[in-house]
Amino acid sequence: MKKAENQILVIFGASGDLTHRKLLPALFELYSRDLLPEKFQVIGAARTPQSTDEFRNKQQAFISEVLKISDYSQLSKLADFLQLVNYIDFDTDDAKQYQILKEKIIFLEKEYNIPDNIIYYLATPPAMYDIIPINLQKCGMNVSLSGGSRKIIIEKPFGYDLESAQRLNHLLESTFHESEIFRIDHYLGKETVQNIFVLRFSNGIFEPLWNRNYIDSIEIISTETLGVENRGKYYDIVGALRDMVQNHLMQLIAFIAMEPPATFDPESIRDEIAKVFKALHVYSPEERVHNIIRGQYMEGNIDEKKVIGYRREKNVAPNSNTETYIAMKLMIDNWRWGGIPFFIYTGKRLKEKRTEIIIHFKSTPQQFFIGQCSGSSCNQLIIKVQPDESISLKFGLKIPGAGFEVKQVSMDFKYNTLSEEKLPDAYERLLLDAMLGDSTLFSRNDALEASWKFIDPIEEEWKKHPSKDLCYYKAGSTGPTIISNFREQTFRYIRNECELPIQNEIQ
Ligand code: BG6
Repeated sequence: MKKAENQILVIFGASGDLTHRKLLPALFELYSRDLLPEKFQVIGAARTPQSTDEFRNKQQAFISEVLKISDYSQLSKLADFLQLVNYIDFDTDDAKQYQILKEKIIFLEKEYNIPDNIIYYLATPPAMYDIIPINLQKCGMNVSLSGGSRKIIIEKPFGYDLESAQRLNHLLESTFHESEIFRIDHYLGKETVQNIFVLRFSNGIFEPLWNRNYIDSIEIISTETLGVENRGKYYDIVGALRDMVQNHLMQLIAFIAMEPPATFDPESIRDEIAKVFKALHVYSPEERVHNIIRGQYMEGNIDEKKVIGYRREKNVAPNSNTETYIAMKLMIDNWRWGGIPFFIYTGKRLKEKRTEIIIHFKSTPQQFFIGQCSGSSCNQLIIKVQPDESISLKFGLKIPGAGFEVKQVSMDFKYNTLSEEKLPDAYERLLLDAMLGDSTLFSRNDALEASWKFIDPIEEEWKKHPSKDLCYYKAGSTGPTIISNFREQTFRYIRNECELPIQNEIQ
């Protein structure tokens, strides 16, 4: 595999969760597989006062816990890897401190003979996204005077609505070139998501069927057992629509719905993704009522353990109307998908952790056989994104013996039969791609803005009517009970039940 150019990675917000849960473990995995650049250093920058040694010791404990490392050789490899990691106390607000960071970078470049290639990772709260690029620019750190490269990686949320996303895009583009900006959506780093491309565009058998003539509907399910953990402050502002739908689920829709790109280069692929978002049907207020359900979890049991309701979570308003569950029907107004519903379901504190895409094909016009299935559940292509990553095709076959009795069977492929190697974590792939400068799996500004154009009217409506139609569900359940009929119908029937204010059950 290709190695990235020698470079320095600066992580802002290095004492946070993301760094120890995802970024450093992913870098260590890349190191173990010899995929890091030959000359490479990391600088962790954060407010917590601590020395590099203290930071390394903490990270050693975190990484070994996250990756469940206990054997001696792995631990000693981890210790070697951590020699590449440095730390500085850093206040992102203080423009003067960027000079100190700059000096640290220059020192490491000289010490390890690394050319002037820098990649900045913003693992900070989103409020810092404005300040960091500006301060980097003030200090001349957004460009290289010696012909080196600059890149900036930012985590979602990319704005809270179209206006703030445009403002953020504008600010980033005034300090970095669009080709240097990498907006991470970790769903695109998942092997099974990337495989949607390969499944669709490396096989001749699917494309002829992949349209409104043969497909009945598409379901995208992404449920979690986790609650908001210690992210109440962030989550109570964004809710499930902004936290999961605007980014992760929209990307899954794009991979399923996009046209084949003209070539397999990043811009052609991202052109096709943007076209899908631009074709999303924006609901009128009347349509919206029947096509979107939102819910919030109450107290319940997860894995036989009692868990509190959303409103009692830390840093969540006790009368919060933030949705922790969304079920929605989306339509794509283009020639391939016109009239075909895309159903999405996502929520926290549900019965199981599962991300799955189900393509329902239309059934035969006549049923000749006993037991023959009819309707849209007969022929399905099921892409299990996580866990138990797999692809299954469901169809009917004759039961051996006299007559023509039919049984539904499933042809299953499981990813763990493809290779002994465990599937790499999404961040491994995305960090490596960013270091290589490959932006295929990162969101582009126009696609991002198009997705907000779809989300904004929904949020605006909810802002006007904060508690209207919010349904409650028990933690550990499959979501609001009203959803069971969702696939067959729109929400008119369901709506009445939803309006029942079950206030006394709210935790
Ligand atoms: C994050 C959301 O982007 O994705 C979280 O902010 C969510 O709320 C997480 O839990 C889900 O990711 P995954 O990979 O566990 O499905």
